[in-house]
Amino acid sequence: MALCRGLSLLAIHIALLASLCSAADLFVYFDFEVSYITASPLGVPQQVIAINGKFPGPTINVTTNNNVVVNVRNKLDESLLIHWSGIQQRRSSWQDGLLGTNCPIPPKWNWTYQFQVKDQVGSFFYFPSLHFQRASGGFGGFIINNRAIIPIPFDTPDGDITILIGDWYTRNHTALRKTLDAGKGLGMPDGVLINGKGPYQYNTTLVPDGIDYETIEVHPGKTYRIRVHNVGISTSLNFRIQNHNLLLAETEGSYTVQQNYTSLDIHVGQSYSFLVTMDQNASTDYYIVASARFVNESQWKRVTGVAILHYTNSKGKARGPLPEGPNDEFDKTFSMNQARSIRWNVSASGARPNPQGSFRYGSINVTEVYVLRNKPPEMIDGKRRATLSGISFVNPSTPIRLADWFKVKGAYKLDFPTKPVTGPPRMETSVINGTYRGFMEVILQNNDTKMHAYHMSGYAFFVVGMDYGEWTDNSRGTYNKWDGIARTTTQVYPGAWTAILVSLDNVGIWNLRTENLDSWYLGQETYVRVVNPEATNKTEFPIPDNALFCGALSHLQKPEDISAATAITGDRLKMFFTLLMTMCAMLVLFH
Ligand SMILES: *[C@@H]1O[C@H](CO)[C@@H](O)[C@H](O)[C@H]1NC(C)=O
Ligand SMILES: *[C@@H]1O[C@H](CO)[C@@H](O)[C@H](O)[C@H]1NC(C)=O
Ligand SMILES: *[C@@H]1O[C@H](CO)[C@@H](O)[C@H](O)[C@H]1NC(C)=O
Ligand SMILES: *[C@@H]1O[C@H](CO)[C@@H](O)[C@H](O)[C@H]1NC(C)=O
Ligand SMILES: *[C@@H]1O[C@H](CO)[C@@H](O)[C@H](O)[C@H]1NC(C)=O
Ligand SMILES: *[C@@H]1O[C@H](CO)[C@@H](O)[C@H](O)[C@H]1NC(C)=O
Ligand SMILES: *[C@@H]1O[C@H](CO)[C@@H](O)[C@H](O)[C@H]1NC(C)=O
Ligand SMILES: *[C@@H]1O[C@H](CO)[C@@H](O)[C@H](O)[C@H]1NC(C)=O
Ligand SMILES: *[C@@H]1O[C@H](CO)[C@@H](O)[C@H](O)[C@H]1NC(C)=O
Ligand SMILES: *[C@@H]1O[C@H](CO)[C@@H](O)[C@H](O)[C@H]1NC(C)=O
Ligand SMILES: *[C@@H]1O[C@H](CO)[C@@H](O)[C@H](O)[C@H]1NC(C)=O
Ligand SMILES: *[C@@H]1O[C@H](CO)[C@@H](O)[C@H](O)[C@H]1NC(C)=O
Repeated sequence: MALCRGLSLLAIHIALLASLCSAADLFVYFDFEVSYITASPLGVPQQVIAINGKFPGPTINVTTNNNVVVNVRNKLDESLLIHWSGIQQRRSSWQDGLLGTNCPIPPKWNWTYQFQVKDQVGSFFYFPSLHFQRASGGFGGFIINNRAIIPIPFDTPDGDITILIGDWYTRNHTALRKTLDAGKGLGMPDGVLINGKGPYQYNTTLVPDGIDYETIEVHPGKTYRIRVHNVGISTSLNFRIQNHNLLLAETEGSYTVQQNYTSLDIHVGQSYSFLVTMDQNASTDYYIVASARFVNESQWKRVTGVAILHYTNSKGKARGPLPEGPNDEFDKTFSMNQARSIRWNVSASGARPNPQGSFRYGSINVTEVYVLRNKPPEMIDGKRRATLSGISFVNPSTPIRLADWFKVKGAYKLDFPTKPVTGPPRMETSVINGTYRGFMEVILQNNDTKMHAYHMSGYAFFVVGMDYGEWTDNSRGTYNKWDGIARTTTQVYPGAWTAILVSLDNVGIWNLRTENLDSWYLGQETYVRVVNPEATNKTEFPIPDNALFCGALSHLQKPEDISAATAITGDRLKMFFTLLMTMCAMLVLFH
């Protein structure tokens, strides 16, 4: 509606049009119809979650400060929330798409997300956050481009390619959920998908006939920005392209010091941009490989993602063995050193013109310290659960942000311990009390036998240290206080710790979780509540008009308004938007 009103004004006020066109605060509209379709990525037909009939879903491609409007129509038989992983939702945890912040979208309903990608650039992805649905798909890439006036720290690439990698089961998410609910582990995945497709038949013993594989077509001599996301369940993957260097350029919204890697470990939930130059002679196609890390190679050979890099002048099919990944099943030192080598380019501009490093995180005093420790899943009240600091999180029936807004008492406790508690583990809706404008240090201590990656919503945090053994106060001496990377998802090796620093300047309720989907499902998460003690609407947006209600606030929920749903169709909105864009283009041309 704002757009329509704006449009009639624009016809008269050409100056206003000019300001609108130059400002990046444009509205960009998307329609997401989420439904099941049948696909056979590993040769076995199964129901997967598609967006607009596509698996994986479409890539969202927007520019810093755009207002993104996504009308999500839930055609599944379960409730749904879409989480925009890594999108900071500044001042608006209302749009974060998690059970701590939003009521679920019931089946057959639609709900419109609206958020601004304020002061952000980089590579992210979205996925359905409820009911283990990510294991059936529903994910897609999310790109935020720099505004034209802000230079990127490399030549404009000749193309932009999104690659989604992830482990995969031929059982669907409801079947996997049942296994977890019955207190069992999921076992070895059945494969690794690349852009929703199974492996290229590089070996007839290991890969059956008739599997549809991904082919990436490129032109010789060109340089592409390849954005790789691990959207899987629990498997860390080593990513590599035969005979090609991966020049690392960006991760989760930060430009890195550019370095070549022959392969890089990408843990669940992580995203990287590589600049890859097609500098080979195309005597054959080349393999793109995503293989499981830290596992018994001979057992896991089947569980390898293989796609094809095809030069337009290629002289033949890829053949021979796959390029080898690191051969260090029992030694994660190489992997950890590689993680430590990923650093922030302090002189590059991020979303704003000033250099990334002008935020001197190393000289800010820490105001609060949380040591969070996980463990392998254990029994609590007869259920197999996963914990963080001895607490297995129970999702509130009234989302925390809504409970606060309507002053619902007892929806959660603000008592998450600063150190792991001794004593029996418990199930609680226990939340971290974050101090607005505080500077928080979080130590993630992995006492599980598996690899974990932790993600925090609402922020990018600085990864300042990582090492084996128990973290102690002395570990601070090893912190990188200068060019630690700012990102949204960090790996924590088993028997090791990772330290992060985060500036709590974004008001809202923010999820802190393991990205390992089964541990997350079993309760390994919490939230950080950041409240501005001053009563103002400047640091947080008020509740959106279309907020859904549930739990103690169910009585506020109106039945879905069908008349509103038909008043302006998506097509008409799109038409207005196209018209606006055309006018902008004309103005640019004739100015
Ligand atoms: C998931 O798989 C189970 C069988 O394991 C089947 O009964 C169910 O219908 C499937 N669900 C969907 C949504 O396809
Ligand atoms: C549902 O979708 C229609 C268009 O497809 C839209 O006009 C309407 O506002 C949406 N309803 C909600 C509650 O988001
Ligand atoms: C994203 O949109 C920009 C224009 O805004 C375009 O230059 C770029 O090629 C697009 N990227 C992808 C991956 O579609
Ligand atoms: C295919 O894989 C099997 C099992 O790992 C191996 O024994 C065989 O040598 C491979 N075949 C080729 C042609 O590489
Ligand atoms: C990365 O490797 C390419 C060759 O693939 C080379 O041209 C380039 O100079 C290397 N860049 C760095 C920063 O090492
Ligand atoms: C192309 O490169 C491959 C591997 O680097 C090499 O073995 C081959 O001889 C080259 N072919 C030509 C035609 O240059
Ligand atoms: C890896 O798996 C193979 C086949 O099951 C087994 O023979 C071998 O002992 C395993 N290796 C290790 C180091 O566990
Ligand atoms: C860091 O960014 C600057 C752009 O500000 C760029 O010129 C430089 O090459 C980058 N340095 C590295 C090591 O990537
Ligand atoms: C940090 O704390 C030290 C010692 O308490 C103090 O001297 C210094 O001024 C503080 N720095 C900042 C930036 O607040
Ligand atoms: C939360 O922290 C604030 C200071 O940031 C403090 O005033 C408040 O009492 C704390 N609340 C609880 C329940 O501990
Ligand atoms: C977990 O913690 C216990 C007790 O501190 C320690 O003995 C054990 O080595 C740890 N295991 C891992 C994998 O960190
Ligand atoms: C904030 O906005 C809400 C809803 O628009 C309004 O009810 C409230 O009075 C505002 N609060 C302040 C402090 O401006």
